[in-house]
Amino acid sequence: MFKPVPYDLYVTESDRFWVHYGLVILGFALAVITAIVQWCKPAPYGKHEPNGASLGPVIPQRIGHMMSDAIPGIGLLLLVFFLYGTERSWTNYTFLALFIVHYINRGIIHPLTMRYSNPNVLLAITLGGFIPNCLYHFLQADFLGSAKYTPHYYYDPRFIIGISMFVIGIVINKWADLKMRSLRKKKDKDENGLTGYSIPFGGLFEVISCPNYFGELVEWLGWSIATWSLAGLVWCLFAAATFVPRSWHNHQWYKAQFENYPPKRRALLPFIY
Ligand SMILES: NC(=O)c1ccc[n+]([C@@H]2O[C@H](COP(=O)([O-])OP(=O)(O)OC[C@H]3O[C@@H](n4cnc5c(N)ncnc54)[C@H](OP(=O)(O)O)[C@@H]3O)[C@@H](O)[C@H]2O)c1
Repeated sequence: MFKPVPYDLYVTESDRFWVHYGLVILGFALAVITAIVQWCKPAPYGKHEPNGASLGPVIPQRIGHMMSDAIPGIGLLLLVFFLYGTERSWTNYTFLALFIVHYINRGIIHPLTMRYSNPNVLLAITLGGFIPNCLYHFLQADFLGSAKYTPHYYYDPRFIIGISMFVIGIVINKWADLKMRSLRKKKDKDENGLTGYSIPFGGLFEVISCPNYFGELVEWLGWSIATWSLAGLVWCLFAAATFVPRSWHNHQWYKAQFENYPPKRRALLPFIY
């Protein structure tokens, strides 16, 4: 029942082999660079956007998030899967569907429903999401379109544990995003848009500052376990390269902003970090 998925079944044609594993190496390198850059300076949006300073051209925030997430996470994924993929088992379709569910939320529902304090975002931030997402999502699609899973892979502990983590992670992430949305009421609106930050309470917010990042990290960890792929692993590492430093910066920001910030709360991992 528990057979490892043979690696040589993923990508056997030599050209595709080099494209696939070349991108895996690039994805790993990009994750390392991202972690270093984000530690040194958090990306300038949201809480870490410098007041008044112009850092370059801006575009509407909702459109920016749709561009950086929906185009690679849905459009590119489907194109690569259906144009270049060869494997059409229920397992491949299950993974494809789960990834798309995530990106319908992240790339469409989330940007249309969140209450941003700034209606605009730097074009550089949008491109900084769009370009890596194209790389990593090309990889996911290339993998999902060519991976041969055993017919009974749904009995496999990697599938069961990984999918469970993915679903739990998505629920935590969505719950946390909705909670933050609820902190900004429409009545708080001034001429610049919806403003103001407050301390979130309840659920996982009692123990960590960034349950939205925690939930998404659990999701992608589950994804890499369930797909049992290097493509999934480098994507999870890239997500961690963003969440680990940014949650720390957010946590420090909360402590500096609110004197009464709960002292026992951690940044990303309950009781640990
Ligand atoms: N896979 C990846 O690599 C990746 C990378 C980044 C983000 N994400 C995901 O994208 C989603 C959004 O990320 P994000 O970095 O924008 O999250 P965030 O900084 O926590 O902000 C989320 C939303 O909540 C608002 N908000 C945050 N803290 C608040 C507070 N204390 N009081 C009132 N409103 C508050 C923000 O408003 P403002 O915009 O006005 O700050 C924003 O609208 C998350 O679910 C995250 O997991 C994924």
